[in-house]
Amino acid sequence: MIAAGITGVHGWVPEYRLTNEELSTMVDTTDEWIMQRIGIKERRILKGGKATSDMGTEAVKGLLEKTGTKPEEVELIITATVTPDMMFPSVSTLICHKAGLKNAWGFDVSAACSGFLFALTTAEQFVASGTHKKVIVVGADMMSVITDYTDRTTCPLFGDGAGAVLLEPVEEGLGLIDHILEVDGSGYKNLHMKAGGSLRPASHETVDNREHFIFQEGQAVFKVAVSKMADVSVEIMKRNKVKPEELKWLVPHQANMRIIEAVARRMGIEKEQVMINIQKYGNTTAATIPLCMWEYESQVSKGDNVILAAFGGGFTWGSIYLKWAYDVK
Ligand code: UT7
Repeated sequence: MIAAGITGVHGWVPEYRLTNEELSTMVDTTDEWIMQRIGIKERRILKGGKATSDMGTEAVKGLLEKTGTKPEEVELIITATVTPDMMFPSVSTLICHKAGLKNAWGFDVSAACSGFLFALTTAEQFVASGTHKKVIVVGADMMSVITDYTDRTTCPLFGDGAGAVLLEPVEEGLGLIDHILEVDGSGYKNLHMKAGGSLRPASHETVDNREHFIFQEGQAVFKVAVSKMADVSVEIMKRNKVKPEELKWLVPHQANMRIIEAVARRMGIEKEQVMINIQKYGNTTAATIPLCMWEYESQVSKGDNVILAAFGGGFTWGSIYLKWAYDVK
C-alpha cells in the first residue's frame, strides 16, 4: 500500500454575503437568535446563473496553480455534492471540461455533509493501489438553490462554496492513516429533499408544496449528529493511540457551533485545536471541511495529527485520521 496524502488545498466562495440582518427582513428571525442557537453571522450566495461546477472549477483552477500542477497531469477527480448542476452529467465531468483536465476521468459521490470524507477515502484507494498518482477531491455545494427562504428553521443554516484538495503518494507515515465511515438510511426521514428524484419527480404539485427544498427535523438531527460525530472521533483517536493533547487539529463539519463545541468536549480537546469558520460561511455541506483546511493551511505543519469529522443527511457520518503531509512554502 502506498501512503496517500493531501499535498495542496484551495477554496472558493461567492462574493455575495447574506447577513443575519438581511435574513431578518425575509423571515421572522434575529441576529441574536441565529448567533446563540447556530453561530452563523453570514453565508455566501452564488448568483448570476452559475452553478456548483462553476464553484468547483474555480477551486480546482486555484489548486492547480498553487501546487504547480498542469491540468493534463490530473488523472482522476471525485466531487462530493448533493447539488449537482443537473441530474446528469456529474459535476466532476463538467469540472474536467471547464478546468481543462483533459486526461482525467471522474465521478460524483453523494453523502450529503459527510460527502468530502467519503470522496477522500474513495480517492485514497486509487493512490494507495498505485494506479493513480494525482487525484483531485472536490467538495462543492450550492445549498441556496434547495434552501426555502420562507422557512426560518432551515434558511439561516446553509450557504454556497467549494473546496478542493490534491491527493498524491507521500512518504510513509504521512497522509491518510485511518477512517471510520458509517451510514444509517433510517435517518432519511429527519433530513432529506422530498421531490425531484425518482420517487417524486418534479410536478406542479411538488413545486406548489415546496418539496424541492431541504426538509429537516432540526432537534432530532442535532442529537444524533453530536453523538455519532463524537463517537467515531473518539474511537479513531483511541485505536490510533492519539491523546487529546497530541491532536493538532480537529476539522469538523460546520453545521452548528453548538455541535462543534459538544464534539470537541467529548473528545477532550480545547477550542484552540478546532478549525472553525462557520460564522463566515454557514453550512456549505460537502465544502465545509476543505474550506476550513484552506483557511487554516498556514497554521498546519508536516507531521501534525489531524482528524476530519462530519455528520449529515442519510444519515451519514465519519472520521478520518491523517498526518499532515506538507509545510506551506
Ligand atoms: O449538516 C447537516 C446536519 N444538520 C445539522 O446538523 C443541523 C442540526 N440541528 C440544528 O442545528 C438545530 O436543531 C437548529 C439550528 C436547526 C434549530 O435549533 P434548536 O435549538 O434545535 O431550535 P428548535 O428547533 O428547538 O426551536 C426552538 C424555538 C422554536 O420556538 P418555540 O416552539 O420554542 O416557540 C422555534 O420555532 O426557536 C424557534 N425558531 C426560531 N426563532 C427565531 C426556529 N428557528 C428560528 C429562527 N429564528 N430562525
